[in-house]
Parts: sequence; C-alpha cells; structure tokens
Amino acid sequence: MLVPIELTQTDALTYDITIDTLPVLHFDTSVVIVTNPTVAGYHLETLLAHITATQRHVVTIPDGENYKTLETVENILNECFEYKLDRKSLLIAFGGGVIGDMTGFTASLYQRGIGFIQIPTTLLSQVDASVGGKTGVNNRYGKNLIGAFYQPKAVYIDPDFLETLPAREFAAGVAEVVKMAVMFDKDFFEFLEKETLTDRDIIVEMIRKSVELKAWVVNQDEKEAGIRAVLNYGHTFGHVVENETAYCQYLHGEAVSIGMVMANALAVALGMMTEEEALQIKVLLKHVGLPVVYTIADVDTFYEHFFLDKKSQKGQIKFILPQGIGKHKIVSDIDSAMVKKVLATFGDMVCS
Ligand SMILES: NC(=O)c1ccc[n+]([C@@H]2O[C@H](COP(=O)([O-])OP(=O)(O)OC[C@H]3O[C@@H](n4cnc5c(N)ncnc54)[C@H](O)[C@@H]3O)[C@@H](O)[C@H]2O)c1
Ligand SMILES: [Zn+2]
Repeated sequence: MLVPIELTQTDALTYDITIDTLPVLHFDTSVVIVTNPTVAGYHLETLLAHITATQRHVVTIPDGENYKTLETVENILNECFEYKLDRKSLLIAFGGGVIGDMTGFTASLYQRGIGFIQIPTTLLSQVDASVGGKTGVNNRYGKNLIGAFYQPKAVYIDPDFLETLPAREFAAGVAEVVKMAVMFDKDFFEFLEKETLTDRDIIVEMIRKSVELKAWVVNQDEKEAGIRAVLNYGHTFGHVVENETAYCQYLHGEAVSIGMVMANALAVALGMMTEEEALQIKVLLKHVGLPVVYTIADVDTFYEHFFLDKKSQKGQIKFILPQGIGKHKIVSDIDSAMVKKVLATFGDMVCS
C-alpha cells in the first residue's frame, strides 16, 4: 500500500510511504544504516537481508532519548566521513522516533544534505514521527529545539517489526493515533473504539489511516504555519506533564494521553465538547493501557510551564481543542482564570 506525499508548497518534492512487508531494496550507492543495539538485536539481520548497496555500513548509537543530542549527531557525521560518503550516499534510519529524528537531521547536515530513508520500528514512529520531515535533537533548553524540516526520500513501514515492541511502547503509539482520530475523523475514532487494536490487520489499518491523515496535513502545511499545529492536540498539556515529571515517569505518548484528557476538560468547560464525548475518549485511552490520571500539585506553576513551550507565541497560549469528536479548533484567547479553574479539577482525585 502506497501513501504519496506531495509537498506542493515546496519544490514539488514528492515521495512515497510504503506500508507493507519490507521489500528488497537495492541502492547503487553507499548506504549507512543508523540504529541502536535494541533494534539491531531484534531486527538488523532481517534488514540486512533486504538491502543491497555499493557499500553498506551500520552505525549503532546508544538507545534512549538522552542520546538525542548534537554530540550523537556529530558522532554519526564522523562515521559518515570515515566511510567517505559522497553526496549521492544515503542514510537509513532504522529504529524509533529518536533514531529517525537524528538520522534525518544528520542527513540534512552532511555535505549540506544527502538523502535519507526512514524504516521506523515503533508504532509511534510508524504513525507519526517518520511522516512529515521534522528532524532534530534536544538540548538543555528543551526537546527538539535544534533541527530542520528535511524530508526523506522514502518511508518503508513494516508492521512486522512491531512484534517485538513492548506493550507500553505500543500503547504510547496508539495515543498519537487517537489524537489524529479525535482531531480529524469521527469514523476512525469509532473504528478504534470497536476493534481489537493489537490484531495485525487492525494495526495495518490504524497505520494506514494515521499516515494518510498526517500526510494530508503535512501536504497542506509542511512548516507548521497553520493546520499542522493541530497535531499538537494533547501536547501543550502533555509537555508540561513530561517536564514536571522530569521526562522519566511517562513515555511521550502517555503524557499526550493525559494531555488530551486535560484538553478535553477545557473543551467541555468552553462548551465545545460534551462530557459524554470527553468520557468516550478517556475510556478508549484507558482501555488501551494509557494513563488518564494526573495530579497537578500546583496550578499556577503548571500554567507558567505552558510558556516554556516553543509554540506559545507572544505570551499567548495556543490551545488545540476538539470540537466534539472529529473536528478541531485552535483557540488562543482563553482567559487564564478559566484555564486554571479547569486545571484545578486535576488537583486531587477528580480525574479518574
Ligand atoms: N519528527 C516528528 O514528527 C516526531 C513526531 C513524534 C515524535 N517524535 C520524536 O520521536 C521520539 C519518540 O519516538 P519513539 O516513541 O519511537 O521512541 P524511541 O525511538 O526511543 O523508541 C522507544 C523504545 O523502543 C525501542 N524499539 C524500537 N523499535 C523496537 C522494536 N521493533 N522492538 C522492540 N523495541 C524497539 C527503542 O530502542 C527504544 O528503547 C521522540 O524523540 C520524539 O520527539 C518526532
Ligand atoms: Zn507526539
């Protein structure tokens, strides 16, 4: 199955996203596969059996978000120089979103840019991170603050790689899928409610639909000047949760799950969504094993944290909120007292 990406606003750059068993790929050039020990341990042999190239190298970097740094990017670059890659050479990202974001960023830098290919191996990277060309690293000022919009030459999504993915990581990926359904597609939301999301056929359908929705958004707004911001539903709150818990208690998707529950509470308070609809979303998130409960220790501190987000412009917080299920609205003029009143309901035992 092919999902074409056509970036009409740039130089008609196009590429395909293939959702299928990984085909045999041949490259008349040097390739460097970037991966980590976890992914390599499970799947590198399979990958190597599917790739032929003029020269083939593997660079293994340590596993974890902590290593998503400029230093790691420089290490990958050094390997590229050691292997004497030229401007036709390709990098292949083989792993989750961390590997994908860093490999893409490295590709954008090596000799001012060489091609790269995404072969994502987590659900989150298959439905979200590998689509859309955002690449980058973290630094001590925050997450993904250094980077580039840099599109891959192709994306190959093979659901079979997910067989070794821990259940918790799988659920974290589902959070991003639910995000897309709530923002854009009520039928898709109902599909997620009804089906067993761990069945292979359902996983394929879930990936296909999410990739199509994300591709549709990115096609309209590659650089996030408008509709792409809608993909941050749940993230404004979720980033604060991640930040308050020092990025070690929740996986990103788990924080987004909590963030969606909070955004929904605000949407209910503003009359944009019914309590029943908010409950429906919470039930789905809980059912797939995602957290929906968070105790805000101090509402004012939580609110202040919104301003650390790079998306808060000129002192205004941009809230991406659902309008019922399947529609969205970006609201930036919500009174702080109203937001804090909603946050206060997450103070003690209210969110269950
Ligand atoms: N570029 C984008 O648009 C975009 C969008 C969303 C998230 N992201 C980024 O993606 C990152 C999160 O991605 P992630 O959730 O994939 O995390 P991750 O890359 O850290 O992967 C999660 C864990 O799963 C392991 N893993 C990967 N594939 C596996 C497999 N098949 N079997 C067993 N274990 C496997 C990894 O080694 C890692 O330990 C964050 O850095 C985030 O900023 C980017
Ligand atoms: Zn996310």
